[in-house]
Amino acid sequence: MPVAMRAAARHGQAMMLERLSPQAPDALLALIRLHAADPREDKIDLGVGVYRTEDGATPVFAAIKAAEQHLVDTQDSKSYLGPEGDTGFVNALMPYIFGADPTMGGRIAGMQTPGGTGAVRLALALAQKAGVKRVHMGVPSWPNHAQILADLGMELAPFDHANTNGSANLDAVLAAVNGAGADEAVLLHACCHNPTGIDYTGDQWAAIADAFAASGTFPIIDSAYQGLGYGMEEDAAGMRAVLAKVPEAFIAYSCDKNFGQYRDRVGAFYILSDDHAALDTAFSNANALARACWSMPPDHGGAAVRIILRDPDMTKAWLAELDDMRARMRQVRDALAKAGSAGRIDLTPLGTQHGLFAMLPVTKDEVTRLREEHGIYMAGSGRINIAGLTMGNLPKFIAALAAVAG
Ligand code: LMR
Repeated sequence: MPVAMRAAARHGQAMMLERLSPQAPDALLALIRLHAADPREDKIDLGVGVYRTEDGATPVFAAIKAAEQHLVDTQDSKSYLGPEGDTGFVNALMPYIFGADPTMGGRIAGMQTPGGTGAVRLALALAQKAGVKRVHMGVPSWPNHAQILADLGMELAPFDHANTNGSANLDAVLAAVNGAGADEAVLLHACCHNPTGIDYTGDQWAAIADAFAASGTFPIIDSAYQGLGYGMEEDAAGMRAVLAKVPEAFIAYSCDKNFGQYRDRVGAFYILSDDHAALDTAFSNANALARACWSMPPDHGGAAVRIILRDPDMTKAWLAELDDMRARMRQVRDALAKAGSAGRIDLTPLGTQHGLFAMLPVTKDEVTRLREEHGIYMAGSGRINIAGLTMGNLPKFIAALAAVAG
């Protein structure tokens, strides 16, 4: 018996690592491997949220390639930055997120984070440090929202994000905002809701903004898909309506999708406060949390975004690529809506929704059958990634759906 085991056994205790219980792999990320291992030529990946072209590829944006080349040619040091990362990147994004007055009247401070997940983690950890114990959130939501809350030991107060007719449930979000206590916050998706694709309308955002302003409830807004819905400006409008009316808020931002930077982990976290001293203090706390978590964010992807956004021609090229992505997803959504239904599944609402995702009312058993019998991979919740569909594989998808959900 090895020495340590003998020692533990002598004290009549379990070995330390034996006290851990096994964790299931993240269901969404596990799908990537399952799909990769499937030899069927006509398999369809509707799992993890990455954009795909009509050929099923997830290419590096040409604008990112050019910016990376520029970075290789000109970068003269890889010395440390700081917990706030590349401030040029953080500042260059701000006009796109916050509009013509990028600091909304000097009320915003930001820092780079490892992806949108890092930004959400930092937002929730800082909220917790400021006394927030409970976070209201529309469900279903991105599964990692709940996982991060659980990991931080914060309570999740769920409300229904959508009505059964496919519209956003305004009453539920207003009740959450109006009813939240002083140690509670409300987490919203800025656009292209994950997983439903159902966003609040302009009028609904206006009502939500009024509710935040009147109640004093703290908003945390996760913006992970700007530009994939209607366009960069349009997709920020609802969030800006809220931010214009509240004295303080957190914003988590991701460049994973709109710059195609998935694995390079490019995100940003912004704090809004009317009170300059409070803004400085909150920012210093965010820096301290970041230092204790990841010390500094990875630089490369953020630097590439900075290079693009500081160059008008590169910016134009990036926006054109984003337009193409959006147009392709719109084409797929229109085709699904035109198909009408597959078995008992009504596909028409998908035509009015936005972004990468939609929820299909399928059972777990039907999800399994789609995978095993037809090589179609989707989240167990019934979420599909619209970008995994093409005009080529759409007929197969609709026929398979009709076969299992007849
Ligand atoms: C998704 O929802 O599929 C993406 O945001 C990837 C992820 O990290 O879950």
